[in-house]
Amino acid sequence: MFNTNTISRFQQLETPFYYYHLDVLRNTLDACRAASSKHGFHVHYAMKANFNPRVLDMIKAYGFGADCVSGNEVKAAIAHGFGKEKVVFAGVGKSDKEINLALDEDIFCFNAESVQELFVIDELARAKSKVAKIAIRINPNVDAHTHHFITTGLDENKFGINTWQLPEVADALRKCPNLQFLGIHFHIGSQITDMEVYKNLCNRINEIQDWFEDHGFAVKVLNTGGGLGIDYHHPDTNGISDFESYFKVFKQFLNVRPGQEVHFELGRALVGQCATLISRVLYVKNGQKKNFLVLDAGMTELIRPMLYQAYHLIENISRGESEVGSRKSEVGKELTQDLIKYDVVGPICESTDCFQKDVELPESFRGDLIAVRTAGAYGEVMASSYNLRDRVSSVYSGE
Ligand code: LLP
Repeated sequence: MFNTNTISRFQQLETPFYYYHLDVLRNTLDACRAASSKHGFHVHYAMKANFNPRVLDMIKAYGFGADCVSGNEVKAAIAHGFGKEKVVFAGVGKSDKEINLALDEDIFCFNAESVQELFVIDELARAKSKVAKIAIRINPNVDAHTHHFITTGLDENKFGINTWQLPEVADALRKCPNLQFLGIHFHIGSQITDMEVYKNLCNRINEIQDWFEDHGFAVKVLNTGGGLGIDYHHPDTNGISDFESYFKVFKQFLNVRPGQEVHFELGRALVGQCATLISRVLYVKNGQKKNFLVLDAGMTELIRPMLYQAYHLIENISRGESEVGSRKSEVGKELTQDLIKYDVVGPICESTDCFQKDVELPESFRGDLIAVRTAGAYGEVMASSYNLRDRVSSVYSGE
């Protein structure tokens, strides 16, 4: 992934930083657009996954819409040139201020997550003499077979409206003249790699669509959400998600009515592989039970391993084959060719600040560059300044 020129460039830079592989992003977007457009599907980029300006610029240029979950995301999407008519706004707790902002912007659609929210949007729209377009986010109780921390479509999750509440929804829609019912929305979880899960989702969507039609509501939009997973273990050999199979499942199993639009909200699958967190080894602690590599990056830069027990491939990019001879003289001793097990940890004052335990790496030294791969989704956006740390910076390929 990194040639010697890139590694030399990294050596001159202050770490840690996110390195953006813009060519990887471009190839991924090409693949997604090719696979979705042949079925006439609409893709919205879930900007919560990464709102780095360069990333947004590139995605917008592909004509995708934006999937937002806060007023600020709505604002940022529009400021970045995503068309208002392609902005969807989900979120279980939209504030009045955020709803008003989205009403002022005349966005494409609110994905409403509770019956109470329907009444609030109706009232706020009435005050502005507007009609808000609404999709009902339904919790279909379909198991995403992913990590329980990133599962959203089960009865026990806080998201969406449960199917047993649908009569109440129908009632509310009839009572709310300032709402225009557009369709139904779903999002059952993230990092889903089993296509069978999407087949189950399609079957549920078909049933729920029938319910709405039977109750006199025309469903113009089916929004299936996002969730398509990526390969964290093999970023070099399997760097682009199988968009073809993913969209094909929906083409095959969804009962799409004539003139109906099918929408998707993909985040991780579009941006996950396009960034690597680059850091340096600050200290090597060789203990009796454990060896530690203490990096200058930690949970403040990439919290996914600590929060979701997520796996990211970790590589010592200073220790390529050609490096061994020169390193030998540098460290003044014979380098072992064996791999050594290290707990790769960050500098933050928390025991949980560990990227991964027992990572097999070549013998590593203070100053070595360590790459934490597949960090483009939910990486930089979830960075914090805990411990009053500097905000992590970004570096781009091709500069
Ligand atoms: N639509 C809605 C309504 C969502 O809540 C999400 C993500 C997406 C679309 C995009 O899902 P994706 O295609 O990226 O799977 N921070 C966690 C993931 C949280 C996902 C939140 N919702 C992580 O790092 O794994």
